[in-house]
Amino acid sequence: MRIDRTASHHVFVAGGIGVTAILGLLEGLPPGASSEIRYCVRHREHAAYLDVLQASGAEVILHESAAGGRLDVPALTAGLADDATVYCCGPEALMAEMAEAASRLHPDRVRCESFTGRVSAPGDRLGDSFEARLMLSEQVIHVAEDESLLQAMLRENVPVDYSCEGGACGSCVLEVVDGEIEHRDLCLSDEERGQSMAACVSRGKGAISVQA
Ligand code: FES
Repeated sequence: MRIDRTASHHVFVAGGIGVTAILGLLEGLPPGASSEIRYCVRHREHAAYLDVLQASGAEVILHESAAGGRLDVPALTAGLADDATVYCCGPEALMAEMAEAASRLHPDRVRCESFTGRVSAPGDRLGDSFEARLMLSEQVIHVAEDESLLQAMLRENVPVDYSCEGGACGSCVLEVVDGEIEHRDLCLSDEERGQSMAACVSRGKGAISVQA
């Protein structure tokens, strides 16, 4: 992504760890340009680089999905001034929403770069298969070697929040009721790992039970 030097206002939309791409762009803003950052995370405590963003001079608006503050992408793009350009970097779900909402804007006014923490291709083995008992929906689902718990839950139409799909944002964190977890996330503390797991990357060792 490159800064649009013809724009009078710059709107940065970052999802989870996609904020790292936005940090680079901020450094290239023309002097005097007005800007705002829409930063989408599950919880404020998962908002990496928030202090850096706040020190950048841009207006920073935090959208915490766990607190009901999810970004309304269609409303954002509908309200864009003609001379504003929007830049978006985040997980697939956010990018798809942005592409849909921005389809009526001039292509030069929307600049996107996808980010995903996935390091595997579909069909790659991610680890041993395991069973997950979902306490709230009262289901037991099988998580195959080549899928994550998050993917298995989505396949079974179990409602689950998610964003980065790379273990970074904390959106998909579930309470673990029972079982042993192989943690692969970047967002939980050792203490939190005692009772939680990131469904997008971490795996059960054998059967586990989670609150979902
Ligand atoms: S979706 Fe971001 S940590 Fe799982």
